[in-house]
Amino acid sequence: MKTLEFKNGDKLPMIGLGTWKSKPGEVYQAVLWAIEAGYRHIDCAAIYDNEKEVGKALDYAMKNNMVKREELFITSKLWNSSHRLEDVQPALSKTLIDLRLDYVDLYLIHWPVSFKPGVGFAQTREEFYTYGDVPLSQTWQGMEQCVDTGLTRHIGVSNFNISKLKEIMESARIAPEMNQIELHPFLLQDNLVNFCKANGILLTAYSPLGSSDRAASIKKANEPSLLDHPTVKQIAEEKGASAAQVLIAFSLHREIAVIPKSVNKERIAQNLEAMQLSLDDKEMSTLSNIGLTYRFVDGSFFTGPISPYSLADLWETV
Ligand code: A2P
Repeated sequence: MKTLEFKNGDKLPMIGLGTWKSKPGEVYQAVLWAIEAGYRHIDCAAIYDNEKEVGKALDYAMKNNMVKREELFITSKLWNSSHRLEDVQPALSKTLIDLRLDYVDLYLIHWPVSFKPGVGFAQTREEFYTYGDVPLSQTWQGMEQCVDTGLTRHIGVSNFNISKLKEIMESARIAPEMNQIELHPFLLQDNLVNFCKANGILLTAYSPLGSSDRAASIKKANEPSLLDHPTVKQIAEEKGASAAQVLIAFSLHREIAVIPKSVNKERIAQNLEAMQLSLDDKEMSTLSNIGLTYRFVDGSFFTGPISPYSLADLWETV
């Protein structure tokens, strides 16, 4: 298994199982299939509303000697409603109870957007906190405390742009070690990727296959398809691989970890086998110049007239 390395030598398996959109009733089996197939990295989050079921599967796998805790790399994420200093550790403690673990390997601030305690998705202006109410640096202090108390081995962020990374880096005692962002041939984010690499921040690509199983409410009409894009399909055909494998290998070749979601046994195995797929410079260049820029998870569900946040707060470029 190819890995990325943290500063202390800990290793992150480059392909992980994504669990966003994996429904309770599906994710238990998906996690067990993944572990059986050889996955050792599972990507979770409190807001996915399935951590209890993931935890049940992890517990089963460890009790039945399929895998040892120290062989697994488990990531989870702090939801927007727990950004105040005093709310961060309790949120991770709840996740640990759900996942049936003593610690996670990596804990991320899920979004640079803050809601009042108990709010799932803010629907009114009153349900939001602003950056003035809860600065990102305060949330980061809570994340650092989670390392101090051993609840997580590593901390990082998700959906952070360069200026927001700089903002927390200025006052950080422990530097962010990961930025999990949307990355694929329609969204290369070269500036942000280069900034992270230059500052020792590892990257994980989410929605590497285009997340076409998103709820209709967070999907636009006529979205382009990554898996059906003619360039991706052509390279897949030439290599005797699937389109999904080409997209996963694309991230691996950029030295970026990748977390394809699947709840299907064959596709879970197939996605891990992308580790063996080698793309040459010409194929990488063709995929990088596909001629289409598109962000599937555009964060517009956190912006708009009732929100103190704008798309410009989230993204420096599209
Ligand atoms: P399923 O869970 O039924 O396999 P993303 O990782 O970008 O969020 O994309 C997830 C979507 O891609 C899901 O609809 C998932 O469906 C589908 N998917 C996962 N792996 C493959 C694959 N190898 N081939 C085609 N579709 C896949």
